[in-house]
Amino acid sequence: MAAPARTLLASRLAGFGTTIFAEMSALAERTGAINLGQGFPDTDGPAEVLEAAVEALRGGRNQYPPGPGIAPLREAIAAHQRRFHGIEVDPDGEVLVTTGATEAIAAALLALCEPGDEVVTFEPYYDSYAACIALAGARRRVVTLRPPRYEIDPEALAAAFSARTRLVLLNTPHNPTGKVFTRAELELIAGHCRERDVLAVCDEVYEHLVYDGREHIPLATLPGMAERTLTISSAGKTFSVTGWKIGWASGPRALVAAVQTAKQFLTFVSGAPFQPAIAHALGLPDAYFESFRADLEAKRDRLCAGLEAAGLEVFRPAGTYFVTADIRPLGEHDGHAFCMALPERAGVVAVPTVVFYDDKDAGRSLIRFAFCKRDDVIDEAAARMARLRG
Ligand SMILES: Cc1ncc(COP(=O)(O)O)c(C=O)c1O
Repeated sequence: MAAPARTLLASRLAGFGTTIFAEMSALAERTGAINLGQGFPDTDGPAEVLEAAVEALRGGRNQYPPGPGIAPLREAIAAHQRRFHGIEVDPDGEVLVTTGATEAIAAALLALCEPGDEVVTFEPYYDSYAACIALAGARRRVVTLRPPRYEIDPEALAAAFSARTRLVLLNTPHNPTGKVFTRAELELIAGHCRERDVLAVCDEVYEHLVYDGREHIPLATLPGMAERTLTISSAGKTFSVTGWKIGWASGPRALVAAVQTAKQFLTFVSGAPFQPAIAHALGLPDAYFESFRADLEAKRDRLCAGLEAAGLEVFRPAGTYFVTADIRPLGEHDGHAFCMALPERAGVVAVPTVVFYDDKDAGRSLIRFAFCKRDDVIDEAAARMARLRG
């Protein structure tokens, strides 16, 4: 049925095939290769959080929750924003629970963009950004981040704005590069937003995964940004429950209300028994967040060392689950072809970063690995990658 479906696809979605994550996970499944493609952990989240979900499920929390999310979860999200970032939001009207960050992103773009509006974003971009901008009938204006540091080029940023710019869609810490935007870079973005009266949507799903003593700075905390920024996050990454799809958006009442209008016609609500469990999770002591971060930082070091030993040029990430690398030191140039052959050659699955670029030349030789995996899995993947060198 694949061929007819493609011909029936509306022109808005022309060019959007199966997401690369599904494609590469299917490849891993088919070949039995180690899947360092898709960003999901291979261990469960905290037992007490799982128990809270079981309790909710057995306790009858199985019908539609309220549209904006259950009050204890909205309160926990507001408390989390205050505790970790010093951001004040009213749980009643300034917080919206969504079906993962994915739905929050889709609802935000559908709610806030008119057809023909422009959205400034950064490439490589998370793949749902391009699709949701297209669904909203908007156009993406992309600023390219280049290794090794993936810094913003201020001139390219300025050139991406126009009279049609409606919003900036930012992701920090950034997937797939692992970049954590610096205060100076965020200030640059904020300056354009203030000057041109543009909105910002900031995807912060990796907010707790920042390494080497660096700081995650929510865009909403910059001067003049709280009133124009919708902040999006999710429980999936922070509590290793990516399949639960509990996300949220917070920010000014008018922005949240607009997003809720779109959201109610997408899923209406979801995740009834998971909502109380995530309310509990958000209140875990600091020690949980710190040990989770330290654990992932050690995994980052482990995989980076392995990939370097295998001969790749590794761009050590400051945050997230991911590390990008250039394959040219291996005498390779085409990341897509390399990743398609990698299961066969080395028994490992990685993602070609080029699929997240409009400027294909900028991403051609880059690939991404996820390190949110057990140490023995990382070690085995690194040992297999080392065979490429031979
Ligand atoms: C940058 C970014 N945003 C959003 C998401 C999706 O989050 P969720 O699973 O909560 O929908 C991901 C998941 O990989 C991501 O990397």
